[in-house]
Amino acid sequence: MFNIILFGPPGSGKGTQSERLILKYGFKHLSTGDLLRSEIARQTPLGIEARNFMDKGHLVPDEVVIGMISSAVDNHPDAKGFLFDGFPRTEKQAEALDNLLKMKNTGIGVVLALDVSESELVKRLLNRGLTSGRSDDTNEEIISSRIAEYHKKTSAVADYYKQFDKVVYVKGEGSVDQIFDALCSEIDRRLS
Ligand code: AP5
Ligand code: MG
Repeated sequence: MFNIILFGPPGSGKGTQSERLILKYGFKHLSTGDLLRSEIARQTPLGIEARNFMDKGHLVPDEVVIGMISSAVDNHPDAKGFLFDGFPRTEKQAEALDNLLKMKNTGIGVVLALDVSESELVKRLLNRGLTSGRSDDTNEEIISSRIAEYHKKTSAVADYYKQFDKVVYVKGEGSVDQIFDALCSEIDRRLS
């Protein structure tokens, strides 16, 4: 089993590249953002709680997200590998994920970190906000708050995995194809 974390700030292209990577490699895609939005759409208690945080651009509490990922992993016992997108986002989530995978006798193969400038992130998210219907894309203040959360809590996740020598930075600006090729060559090098 080979598991990947696709890491990066809001708007860095995690979702875009995940879609392609799962087609090529057959990983099971687990995006906590997508899972939370599906809970919101179904108006579950978890979704109702999460929405209050997401609408402000704040992180949802660790316990909520860890519980959600833990059942998602359990629900796919036959997965040949997981692609984690938007998770882990705090050091506590990273430790929980390591424990979860350890219990399944596996771990994280590599953390691919997309490197994108802040001005490009804001431009992409505002642009998507014109059509996406995502409430957290529609104004610059909420986008700034998402980026601030990233610096305050999430960038530490890269430091956490650096101690195990798992982090590789990939340039996240340029064409979607170029970035995809760069990600694939990092994965192929580790799979062969
Ligand atoms: P989440 O859904 O994870 O959103 P995010 O990480 O803030 O960022 P995005 O998904 O918007 O960006 P992305 O990196 O996937 O980029 P994308 O491919 O879409 O989280 C949303 C919220 O949920 C959080 O704020 C938090 O409240 C909560 N949450 C989620 N996970 C959590 C967790 N683990 N713990 C606590 N809370 C959690 O691309 C963005 C745009 O750019 C698109 O329009 C795309 O078309 C475009 N684009 C992509 N690549 C390129 C390119 N190469 N050139 C030009 N444009 C491009
Ligand atoms: Mg995404």
